[in-house]
Amino acid sequence: MSEIPFYITTPIYYVNDKPHIGHAYTSIACDVMARYMRLEGREVRFLTGTDEHGQKVEKSAGSANLTPQEFVDMVSESFRELAGELQLSHDDFIRTTQPRHIRAAQAMWDALMAKGDIYLGSYAGWYSVRDEAFYGEEELVGGIAPTGAPVEWVEEPSYFFRLSKWQEPLLAYFEAHPEFIAPEARRNEVISFVKGGLRDLSISRTSFLWGVRVPNQDAHVIYVWLDALVNYLTAVGYPDVTCDLYQTFWEHADVTHVVGKDILRFHAVYWPAFLMSVGVPLPRQIFAHGWWTNEGQKISKSLGNVIKPEQLIETYGLDQTRYFLLREVPFGADGNFSRLAMVQRINSELANTIGNLAQRSLSMVQKQCGGRVPSRDGMVAGDQDVLMRAYGLQEAVRTSLVDFKFHAALEAVVEVGRALNEYIDAQAPWVLKKTDVSRMEAVLYTLLEGIRCIALCLQPFMPTAADKMLFQLSVPENARMNACVSAEYALISGAVLPEPEGIFPRFQVVEEG
Ligand code: MSP
Repeated sequence: MSEIPFYITTPIYYVNDKPHIGHAYTSIACDVMARYMRLEGREVRFLTGTDEHGQKVEKSAGSANLTPQEFVDMVSESFRELAGELQLSHDDFIRTTQPRHIRAAQAMWDALMAKGDIYLGSYAGWYSVRDEAFYGEEELVGGIAPTGAPVEWVEEPSYFFRLSKWQEPLLAYFEAHPEFIAPEARRNEVISFVKGGLRDLSISRTSFLWGVRVPNQDAHVIYVWLDALVNYLTAVGYPDVTCDLYQTFWEHADVTHVVGKDILRFHAVYWPAFLMSVGVPLPRQIFAHGWWTNEGQKISKSLGNVIKPEQLIETYGLDQTRYFLLREVPFGADGNFSRLAMVQRINSELANTIGNLAQRSLSMVQKQCGGRVPSRDGMVAGDQDVLMRAYGLQEAVRTSLVDFKFHAALEAVVEVGRALNEYIDAQAPWVLKKTDVSRMEAVLYTLLEGIRCIALCLQPFMPTAADKMLFQLSVPENARMNACVSAEYALISGAVLPEPEGIFPRFQVVEEG
């Protein structure tokens, strides 16, 4: 187990719009990692928050007839609420309008300036407000950004960052640290982008006001992406690089930024270049996940098919939603949300496989063993084999999650659930109760112990359901770490168990129309 502190961040979300499934997805994935690492016994810090400056936000505030500050206060609150609804276990919620962040962004500016990496020039080129990104003429496709966003011609005085100077150091860094950008396919894309040549980057704007002021240059505000990226440092105390938080969670930590594939370039090219320039250590990894479509269609406000996280939670339940999003699609690949797929996952894997297994086993223990953990005296080699599979989950989940393979970790857990269901059918404890009580008890013991391992492994993914399962097995709070998925922490025969209760109800499809 690694002793290195773990710092994980979500992107900070633009407050031009209400939260949707994309935001929920990144946040849930980070939450699962943060919870998992805590259960590994590591020191963890988990950051999320909101990105509140820039032209896009300023325009949205105008359309809502609010001042930018009123507007960002309102929308930022809806992201904070979402964090609560998703049961995120974040340690900090950052807003880029906070004084601590303005101070950090300006300090970063001063540091880049002191390194001679900023110069004054003027920008003439294409800008997309929707993407908050500059585009070269050659990148446009039929007069619009490659992302499909409209662009406008911008000409204004601007400060530039000497990005071109960092092309070779970046390539050398990618080469020396193959794990820096994941997954592999995305890493290759970034490398070819950088090899294609880096132009200096415009990092200040003068045509609007809603941003962090460039120190001593009141006419300029800092480009929103430079401002935003610094949030990861602000939250650990930058520019105070001697404070404990910074020392623990930046200087000596595994820092992981989880982002959507659309914003990888900002994180994997601009951000490391800024950090190299000022001599701050680079994060360990940037992981780019894919995008969700809705019933096969791109999700967009204009199509009116935005999926609201609170509706998913209301319809399917929070644990079920968290499970589906991470189980359905390998993290890194694009995924399609469909009601049918959601219902199938809930019913086949949660209700039929895991829920049913727990219900059957626990209610039999309640009736046949007086509500106590049964005796293991009658155990045979075959039972031990079943248990070894369950204990093997500790390693299977670990190797999957190191690579953000949430779906594979869950597949391994469900696989053990399936094996236990086959075992219960084959052993038929309801027959043994008449023929061989000692064997019946051993079989029920094996089942409970397998369910304990499943529940422990599900904790980061479905905190409420896993807690209920562990409660029903009387597993104390201090025996719920990942290391407890082992024989050493096995249930103790004779321990009293509470009345069992269903955990994963079957989802009934109500036909529309
Ligand atoms: N503010 C910037 C990030 C700054 S980080 C220093 C931003 N914000 S955002 O609100 O537009 O997007 C946040 C995240 O949501 C991105 O990682 C993006 O990939 C993700 N998603 C937006 N729509 C999505 C889907 N349809 N599916 C999955 N994730 C998507 O970018």
